[in-house]
Amino acid sequence: MSVPQSALRREQPSWLLDPFDRTDPLRKFSWWQRGIVYQVYPRSFQDSNGDGIGDLDGIRLRLDELVKLGVDAVWVSPIYPSPMADFGYDVTDYTNVHPLFGDLAAFDRLVDAIHQRGLRVILDYVPNHTSDQHPWFIESRSSRDNPKRDWYIWRDPKPDGTPPSNWISEFGGSAWSFDEATGQYYYHAFLKQQPDLNWRNPDVREAMFGVLRFWLDRGVDGFRVDAIHHLIEDTELRDNPVDPDWKPGQSPARRHARIFNLDREEVHACIAAMRAITDSYPGERMLIGEASLPIKQLMAYYGVNAPGFHLPFNFHLIKSRWDPQVIAQLIEEYESHLSPEQWPNWVLGNHDRPRVASRVGPEQARIAAMLLLTLRGTPTIYQGEEIGMADVPIPPERVQDPWEKNVPGLGLGRDPERTPMQWDTSAKAGFTTGEPWLPLSADHARRNVAVQMHDPHSMYSLYRELIALRRREPTLSVGAHVKAGTQGPVLTYQRYHSERWITVALNFSGEMQQIEPGRLDTRRILLSTHLDRTGEDVTSLLTLRPHEGVVLGPQF
Ligand code: GLC
Repeated sequence: MSVPQSALRREQPSWLLDPFDRTDPLRKFSWWQRGIVYQVYPRSFQDSNGDGIGDLDGIRLRLDELVKLGVDAVWVSPIYPSPMADFGYDVTDYTNVHPLFGDLAAFDRLVDAIHQRGLRVILDYVPNHTSDQHPWFIESRSSRDNPKRDWYIWRDPKPDGTPPSNWISEFGGSAWSFDEATGQYYYHAFLKQQPDLNWRNPDVREAMFGVLRFWLDRGVDGFRVDAIHHLIEDTELRDNPVDPDWKPGQSPARRHARIFNLDREEVHACIAAMRAITDSYPGERMLIGEASLPIKQLMAYYGVNAPGFHLPFNFHLIKSRWDPQVIAQLIEEYESHLSPEQWPNWVLGNHDRPRVASRVGPEQARIAAMLLLTLRGTPTIYQGEEIGMADVPIPPERVQDPWEKNVPGLGLGRDPERTPMQWDTSAKAGFTTGEPWLPLSADHARRNVAVQMHDPHSMYSLYRELIALRRREPTLSVGAHVKAGTQGPVLTYQRYHSERWITVALNFSGEMQQIEPGRLDTRRILLSTHLDRTGEDVTSLLTLRPHEGVVLGPQF
């Protein structure tokens, strides 16, 4: 099934027209540059059949909520058949849907419903590893001379019987598991139930490119490509050196500087091939890459010698200390590495990292929202951020995440940020009629979309206002970034587009601050995080209340 491209193009609303030159200043920007991505974690978004686990029909039933919020694209985390050792990131069939989530017909209904609303859909693509239950791996492990043996990374033990290298799995323990029957080890960057595919094998590449085509033919607008920096390993399997900066309590895999099994140069040719396939389809299809790397290394994922990802995910707001100077430096460093063709992006959270409201606290979470939605670059919102959801403590008997089970007690488990979406005041927050697979947050009766929608000062209202402002002001969605700096605990930066300037000032402290607002042509408050000063003119110093951020623009 392929969707007519005309159906994908949203009518350009009149407010997107530039008031100065009467042409559409956004015409040269793609939807993935102008727009906002919203991450749906399907298990926890909306259950439609009462089994306590979210599903595709559930997502479809909530699409109008996403339209109201104002986002442009829905990224759906894995929905493929899977034994769920890593909750869908262990795939047994790349071209089908897990019965828990629905079936291909439900998927087609969802894609149609998304496109009918003028939204886009981005699927998760997991190329680095399959499930150990995938038929490819079952064949591969069946004998040393099976034609699929080389589809995975098999090696003999060292003479003393130990694993071929010292590589550590992301989830703890050796990254090699021994197969008694065939007397060799196989490599897995993640769980032992997630064997790594051998991307040096041309048949593997072709099979995995076929997966991209299968979903592109079905109408998806792009992919979020999982764990891409893990794709290729050193052929000689050299041991990684110890990282002297590693401290106990940090992820065990980081004990080593992972120079031989992460971020290998050959990965870029594989990404370029994925990109060429995506580009061969009409309608601005796109690729987002997941690679958690320092900024300098991340830049290569835009492409080396040939185009790579449209957006290599930038996770640095998640990793950085919440300090205005640190954030100002981060913004400047990131901006300074980007070439004019490389489009930025920003992320506050996802299904793998503690929620922003827990990391920075509920008041600063509003500052974070204003930052995310006023910086240059495509923002990604993780479901629940828009109502200020925080991490939910998970009692030991309800732990689901294999990472927590493998390395307990270090706070690495990811269940707290994966709890069900809180929609309304009903018993199970409108998420399910059954027993949710992870506990609901204790605050769900107060903190939910239905309640916050009617509260003009809620986090939800702030997200909606910020998104509406970003859509209304091309300066925010596509304008240039002009230097981030600080005045005490206040972070400031400016944006510029077509003669129109915007200043953003964010108070990172719990005290009142007064700052010099700078440009004379950005003296009108367009929005405050407190949602009560719109239209106010700043005549001399700008006063910011504790934890207040403002967007200032021209007086017309
Ligand atoms: C990515 C996913 C994460 C998963 C891992 C292995 O980092 O976001 O949830 O566990 O890859 O596929």
